[in-house]
Amino acid sequence: MPASISLLEDLAANLSPGGLLTEAGDVAPYCTDWRGLFHGEACAVMRPADTAELARAVTICAAHGARIVPQGGNTGLCGGATPPDHGLNVVLVLSRLNRIVSIDPVGQTMVVEAGVTLAAAQNAARDAGLMLPLSIAAEGTAQIGGLIATNAGGTRTVRYGNMRELTLGLEAVTADGDVLDLMRPLRKDNTGYALKHLLIGSEGTLGIVTRAIIQLQPKLAHTEVALCAVPDAGAALDLFAALRARDPMAVEAFEFMSGAGMALTCEMIPEVGWPLSETPGTSDYVLIELGTRDPSRDLRTLMEAVLEDTLDRGVVIDAVLAESETQSQGLWRLREEHTEAQKRAGASIKNDVSVPVPAIPELIARATAACEALCPGIRCVPFGHMGDGNIHFNLVQPADAAGADFLALSPSLMAAVNDVVRALNGSFSAEHGVGQLKTKMMPDWRGGTELALMRAIRTAFDPASRLNPGKVLPADPASSPKA
Ligand code: FAD
Ligand code: MLT
Ligand code: ZN
Repeated sequence: MPASISLLEDLAANLSPGGLLTEAGDVAPYCTDWRGLFHGEACAVMRPADTAELARAVTICAAHGARIVPQGGNTGLCGGATPPDHGLNVVLVLSRLNRIVSIDPVGQTMVVEAGVTLAAAQNAARDAGLMLPLSIAAEGTAQIGGLIATNAGGTRTVRYGNMRELTLGLEAVTADGDVLDLMRPLRKDNTGYALKHLLIGSEGTLGIVTRAIIQLQPKLAHTEVALCAVPDAGAALDLFAALRARDPMAVEAFEFMSGAGMALTCEMIPEVGWPLSETPGTSDYVLIELGTRDPSRDLRTLMEAVLEDTLDRGVVIDAVLAESETQSQGLWRLREEHTEAQKRAGASIKNDVSVPVPAIPELIARATAACEALCPGIRCVPFGHMGDGNIHFNLVQPADAAGADFLALSPSLMAAVNDVVRALNGSFSAEHGVGQLKTKMMPDWRGGTELALMRAIRTAFDPASRLNPGKVLPADPASSPKA
């Protein structure tokens, strides 16, 4: 009997109803990514209902030598959740592990299963008078397990940190199907090596996250949201410094958007609306959110004082302050629709990079010049989490080019951006991860001892490389291929 048939029979006997998909038409949607850029193959999709069932299924896969590709909301932007196009692969979908187990109002923590979406977890925290302070535009679909596996960042990292800072404990299933219980709700725990931190950001290559303890925060009493037009990225940095000088703890989000990105967003998704008098794209933009837990605190005065000062100095050209929750959401939409607008505009190349915060204007100027020299008509769309030094230096195809021709330039365009990033002491992989998009670049950025130690860690957790093969680490030329 071929391996895949006996594997499927064993899985079918051990997964609860609805837990196994084997029809090609049912499996296909799980074999491609959100942007339709990566495609792979799998003989089945497993959808276990709880940790015990998941661990059993993983043990069966190990016995059959099948490789497992964990998949959360499939919103990742590096092809990390897409199976390879060869070999005996099974996609492991976490969406049935969707229970919010408990919320501790005193410790301000939440125990949650990996398949809960970020939005559902945020809502549960809010209902309990608390706040889960991670926010990304894909929060309606991205899952807790995927966020931990990628160490996701987002728009509130500037204030609360990445997913790593919010993850107090976790449970994971190893490549052999053992349950690794790291569910300790402790802020202090210096007991040997921190396995939890190895699993966070490992993109499904070291273990499958099944549950987590998330650190919550008290709910904000109120917020102030403003959209500012600024002459350029340097002025945006001045504005950031001015806000932080007044009160760094009040800055909940500080997001930069280039004129090109804003113009594209308003063109592709006109229903976003446009609140300033200038034509979108005339200048660059910043979205600010200030927040406080003190109901008596007057944030409006703080925001107005900073804007008055920066308008006087020409650092800000124009600004609009939200007068209601609906207006706040409208201003946020202009930022959050950037990714969708770029998808609608045709082929695009993502460079999720970071540099020291003061180097952002130089990054944007030098990378734009380099890309325009390589591809006349290219639309450079830098935007993102300026307060973290994390810019999405995304590239959109020239309006009149064929998408495939543009994507063929990917290696040279990414190399041009990364050369600038390297010169500025930055990282080629800031918050989205390495996935399969950037695997080949790893030796250029994490050579020698660092890469060798990463390989040793991978081998310690998963000697046969069956968890998410082909992701994060490039094939080791020193060892024979595994499958
Ligand atoms: P998937 O895409 O399903 O998987 C991502 C990786 O995690 C894969 O390697 C997968 O194998 C692994 N994985 C998934 N679940 C598990 C699990 N339970 N155990 C082990 N491994 C697992 N990212 C940011 O960091 N900041 C942003 O601001 C941001 N904004 C975005 C906006 C949009 C519109 C979109 C489409 C994406 C954005 N992303 C952002 C990227 C993406 O949403 C994040 O990487 C997110 O963490 C992925 O979660 P997911 O559940 O969709 O994971
Ligand atoms: C975001 O911050 O919106 C995403 O991480 C950016 C992207 O689409 O590159
Ligand atoms: Zn981002």
